[in-house]
Amino acid sequence: MSANPSGSGPGEVLAEAERRRTFAVISHPDAGKSTLTEALALHAAAIEQAGAVHGKAGRRGVTSDWMDMERSRGISITSSVLRFEYGGALLNLLDTPGHADFSEDTYRVLAAVDGAIMLLDSAKGLEAQTLKLFDVCRHRKIPVITFVNKWDRPGREPLELLDEVEQRIGLRPAPLNWPVGVAGDFRGLIERADGSYTRFRRTPGGATRAVAEDVPADLAAAEEGDAWTTATEELALLDEIGATLDMDAFATGSCTPVLFGAALPNFGVRALLEAVCRLAPAPTPRADEHGAARPVEAPFAGQVFKVQAGMDRAHRDRLAFVRVCSGRFERGMVLTHAATGRPLTTKHAQTVFGRDRSTIDAAYPGDVVGLPNATGVKVGDTLYDKRPVTFPAIPAFAPEHFMVAHVKDNGRAKQFRRGIDQLDNEGVVQVLRSDLRGDGAPVLAAVGPLQFEVVTARMENEFGAPVNLTRLDYTTARLTDKESAPVLSAQRGVEVLTRVLDGAVVAVFPDKWRVRAIEREKPDLTLTPMLAA
Ligand code: G4P
Repeated sequence: MSANPSGSGPGEVLAEAERRRTFAVISHPDAGKSTLTEALALHAAAIEQAGAVHGKAGRRGVTSDWMDMERSRGISITSSVLRFEYGGALLNLLDTPGHADFSEDTYRVLAAVDGAIMLLDSAKGLEAQTLKLFDVCRHRKIPVITFVNKWDRPGREPLELLDEVEQRIGLRPAPLNWPVGVAGDFRGLIERADGSYTRFRRTPGGATRAVAEDVPADLAAAEEGDAWTTATEELALLDEIGATLDMDAFATGSCTPVLFGAALPNFGVRALLEAVCRLAPAPTPRADEHGAARPVEAPFAGQVFKVQAGMDRAHRDRLAFVRVCSGRFERGMVLTHAATGRPLTTKHAQTVFGRDRSTIDAAYPGDVVGLPNATGVKVGDTLYDKRPVTFPAIPAFAPEHFMVAHVKDNGRAKQFRRGIDQLDNEGVVQVLRSDLRGDGAPVLAAVGPLQFEVVTARMENEFGAPVNLTRLDYTTARLTDKESAPVLSAQRGVEVLTRVLDGAVVAVFPDKWRVRAIEREKPDLTLTPMLAA
């Protein structure tokens, strides 16, 4: 089954890994993520014509902006992978769910990428969700390339935007190109590295490719007038203050290359694509739970970053998304599930491209493989071939919303338990239990309230066990331990529960002031903050 007809070895794996760029776009809703995704894919010629079908609805199949559809079908918000080749590079663009209601799914996607594009709306700069997502990148030390979008519309001054990035998130911006003409009167881009100028002109009536024209600098200086003078003065200022790219600082997440453009008319998208290929890191050895690096060319190992059920009516199954971390994956391999030691067959392995799926025969570090019906596999789990390894769990965010679930019809108790377990394994919500509440009344915890809608719909439609959810007055959770638990349980307004997935002891509080008061009164208690969303 796992014969290796190509006779591939470590050299092949290293070469394939080296050309891969696995990344995500982080942004606030409406900044233009779908548009940019499409424009990137267009440049890479993966799809025929961006904007050929106007509006979001027509783009869904391509960019996997499935939100509404999925809500109406009552399943979780999904992520998928867009893959395209550019030059010699192979890009895997992992979609992050783009809804204002921040969910843990996004975090998990960021656990599977090697780099990110931070997309800013030129008129809005850093927005709430961008900040949250950037925090995740910082936490995971993911290098970030910044793209300032919508330059064709009135917006803010470029220097002001750079300043905001530096002041608010401490990321030193290093522009790779510089706009000629203010936001709303976009003329073109000066490439900082060599001073070359690309002028953009809209195509009549088109949301499609803009006409890009290389214009010699002296001619541009004469033709663009004041806009040119301003841009060159600003560039001189950037040189003076040393706003240049430091690759080490970029790799460790303290410096960000910045590019300007407009995704919709396709201004500056190619420069971004080239920057991703040139600057974003290829897959590197991933640390295991003991901190030892698994070489990229080691036998296959991958980490599950998402488990998704019912993605498609045509595929009513449960798909585990596995990020390949080392080695060559071959369909048909029998892998070991690190958490249980159980074997896992992969003869139905798939790629997930937008909404479409097809069989995948081989994959390399940086790629994403979909394994249908990977029973018992949870988010964060490791799968490996030959040489055992376990990667560290993907940390869960601190939940801020809590509901207690009851099955509506006691005759469906078995289905209820099965459904809740499944949603827990997928990471739709965190499931917390306590002896006090009993098995029939698990507490469901989530970062965003939307997850509860998903639970309600899926419990009814998929598991045949409609539920009643009752809100609990908690907003804050801390990790604690068995020693502190009895003391905490005795505190007013505090409850202690066990997280089913990993057995962690979790204390929940009405608000953070209550936590602070208890910390002051009883400094010996264990109260560890969870990752903030
Ligand atoms: P999102 O996925 O981040 O939520 O954003 P999306 O791409 O859907 O873009 C949000 C809106 O911003 C869309 O307009 C889109 O056309 C517009 N947009 C994106 N990039 C640019 C750009 O570079 N310049 C300009 N002028 N507009 C841009 P919409 O009217 O909300 O939707 P649609 O019906 O046009 O798709």
